[in-house]
Amino acid sequence: MNTDSSSTATISTSSDNLRNRQAQFAKELYGKDIGTKSGMSALLSKNNDAQKEAVAKYLKHWDGKMDTEAEKRRLEDYNESTHSYYNVVTDFYEYGWGSSFHFSRFYKGENFQASVARHEHYLAYKADIQKDDLVLDVGCGIGGPAREICRFTGCNIIGLNNNDYQLAKATYYAKKFKLDDKLSFVKGDFMHMEFDPNTFDKVYAIEATVHAPTLEGVYGEIYKVLKPGGIFAVYEWVMTDKYDPSNPEHRKIAYEIELGDGIPKMYKKSVAVDALNKVGFQILESEDLADNDDEVPWYYPLTGEWKYVQTLSDLATFFRTSFLGRKVTTGLVTLLEKVGVAPAGSAQVTYALEEAAIGLVDGGREKLFTPMMLFVAKKPLEKTK
Ligand SMILES: C[S@@+](CC[C@H](N)C(=O)[O-])C[C@H]1O[C@@H](n2cnc3c(N)ncnc32)[C@H](O)[C@@H]1O
Repeated sequence: MNTDSSSTATISTSSDNLRNRQAQFAKELYGKDIGTKSGMSALLSKNNDAQKEAVAKYLKHWDGKMDTEAEKRRLEDYNESTHSYYNVVTDFYEYGWGSSFHFSRFYKGENFQASVARHEHYLAYKADIQKDDLVLDVGCGIGGPAREICRFTGCNIIGLNNNDYQLAKATYYAKKFKLDDKLSFVKGDFMHMEFDPNTFDKVYAIEATVHAPTLEGVYGEIYKVLKPGGIFAVYEWVMTDKYDPSNPEHRKIAYEIELGDGIPKMYKKSVAVDALNKVGFQILESEDLADNDDEVPWYYPLTGEWKYVQTLSDLATFFRTSFLGRKVTTGLVTLLEKVGVAPAGSAQVTYALEEAAIGLVDGGREKLFTPMMLFVAKKPLEKTK
């Protein structure tokens, strides 16, 4: 690593520039009351030119090319491309899924929101989060999991995110739900954390670190900011041991997931295990929670199979996320875009999300992919690295 002070200064100036540019752009896209509207109402009030630019910035890396050069460009531009991805999909996610942007297991008779909350409680339990612990949520989205885990445990959480729009929403909701004395949200890149070393009692990440160009990079940063003896628990998105990148069918599924979810590169589970070990973590538990015989599979909301819907209260959510519901949304958004009501590029985004849904369901059915590879890891009390 280059420790020369002039190059360190250059790096921080360029990251400051990027940070300011991204913050400015989010304001252009969403206006002065950024973060206060939700779902379709937020989508329809976006600035047209800025939306067009955000869509172009996101999609420029996913032009169908799967070669190593294209992959290298995606890895290098991970921060901007992910920032752009969430600038264009956040309202769709919130409209279709709610305020926690992750999958969960389902039990018979359990409704969608209960299952999402249980998945969050389980991670908090695995991380051994206690009342008044200082906890870091890496890649916190719009703060759905942080609000739930704070209510569940009474801990204090700092949510880290590189997307300004999501941060504005997370901050708005924390205040709205009177949790702002326990929750705060800060802008930052999880590959370059600015917290002091040994700051947090616990760290968790839900379906976020998959956006890192290297897992070793993000896990190394988490290791740094965690106190010795502290626990890191994560639901990681990985390709399973069954995945063979030289198999074109497998690669197509991974590419659909990368494209529709703004992920520079999907890694295999073994890469995540090696990365955790390499940065110094002691792995306490590792379990693929998707590798089971659940009667209701984790990917059911994307399938369009009505037989899986558990409660009447889930019908609306299921319809929005199902195959038919997505087609209706795509058709509606295309029409609204044509008549100038929805901002330009919105329909293109719904097509990319459609590809993601297909890749996720195929990957789930074939057990080539999991969005819930649980790792519980400890930073040893004695330094090992
Ligand atoms: C699928 S969302 C999950 C959000 C949240 N954990 C949840 O479950 O609701 C992934 C999150 O990772 C964040 N993210 C992606 N790349 C990041 C980076 N380099 N630094 C910080 N956050 C990042 C995104 O902005 C987004 O909030």
